[in-house]
Amino acid sequence: MPPLQLTGQVLDVRRAGMYTVLSLTAPGLAERTRPGHFLNIGIGGEESALLLRRAFAIYQVQSRGVYGGSVDIVIGPHGKGTKWLVDRRRHDNLSIVGPLGRPFTLPKNPANCILVGGGYGTAPLFMLADQLRERGCRVDVIAGAATEEKLFGTLEIKRAASTLTVTTDDGSMGTRGRVTDVLEDVIERSAADVIYACGPMGMLSAVAAIAAARGVYVQTSVEEAMACGIGVCMTCVLPVIGEDGITRMVRSCVDGPVFRGDQVRWADVGTIPADALGAPTGGQ
Ligand SMILES: Cc1cc2nc3c(=O)[nH]c(=O)nc-3n(C[C@H](O)[C@H](O)[C@H](O)COP(=O)(O)OP(=O)(O)OC[C@H]3O[C@@H](n4cnc5c(N)ncnc54)[C@H](O)[C@@H]3O)c2cc1C
Ligand code: FES
Repeated sequence: MPPLQLTGQVLDVRRAGMYTVLSLTAPGLAERTRPGHFLNIGIGGEESALLLRRAFAIYQVQSRGVYGGSVDIVIGPHGKGTKWLVDRRRHDNLSIVGPLGRPFTLPKNPANCILVGGGYGTAPLFMLADQLRERGCRVDVIAGAATEEKLFGTLEIKRAASTLTVTTDDGSMGTRGRVTDVLEDVIERSAADVIYACGPMGMLSAVAAIAAARGVYVQTSVEEAMACGIGVCMTCVLPVIGEDGITRMVRSCVDGPVFRGDQVRWADVGTIPADALGAPTGGQ
């Protein structure tokens, strides 16, 4: 189903640690949304000079209710756009485009799955955890952040998981260290078949390396800078190896944001590798 462009009204604004959860009316969006999809929001109102929409993972959707459906997103205040968004109030209107991108692929048969989230990267994992459990999968979750304040939704996701392991860089909650410090243990304990990960690029790269070393299939949801979010501007490209072994610069907004972790050339992200299809040949 194609994405929708609609005006959503703010139904609720909730603080969760350093994050703000916005609930927006979005009729028709829930039916189209799969775990891993994202949406784009216009910033600053109709007269705004901030032209670029901002991308947010879809955290929750409700298909029914008096508003004919709603969508929740989790916002970490960062620059101008996110700071403007966290100041929205009930009944404000926002321009929404979504759902966008390629979502996570779910296993056909029951499988043992580990979900790894870094910071607000846990947001798209809630819907994923619910759908995996509905399919009879075992779900173990690892949630990590620099500090306790930067973790999102740990109590809530615990309900959908067989086990939850929390890490913080400073040890303010859970194990001191990074998600990758506990990942091998959880792989061992859960006899993992699949890992799903969402978070900063460094974390995804490290998770993909461990998965490769342990022979576990891994899907990563990347966060590249996106200007249009709909496949037009090429801002969001990254080098990905195709099934034919050839590296292509692919758009993370329409070909991703979910990619097989073993196919992303993590060390070359931000560059065009010389062996990528169509790479500049140096002055010819
Ligand atoms: C798929 C995806 C999912 C995301 N999910 C979440 C989420 O759930 N929660 C959350 O808080 N954040 C999420 N983000 C990050 C969020 O979009 C950024 O925090 C936000 O874009 C920063 O906006 P800002 O206005 O606060 O920052 P600013 O730094 O003021 O603005 C960043 C803007 O510049 C654009 N930009 C940056 N680099 C370039 C470039 N090289 N060329 C062109 N444009 C550029 C960005 O696309 C963005 O529009 C997600 C990003 C992506 C791509
Ligand atoms: S953000 Fe414009 S092509 Fe992906």
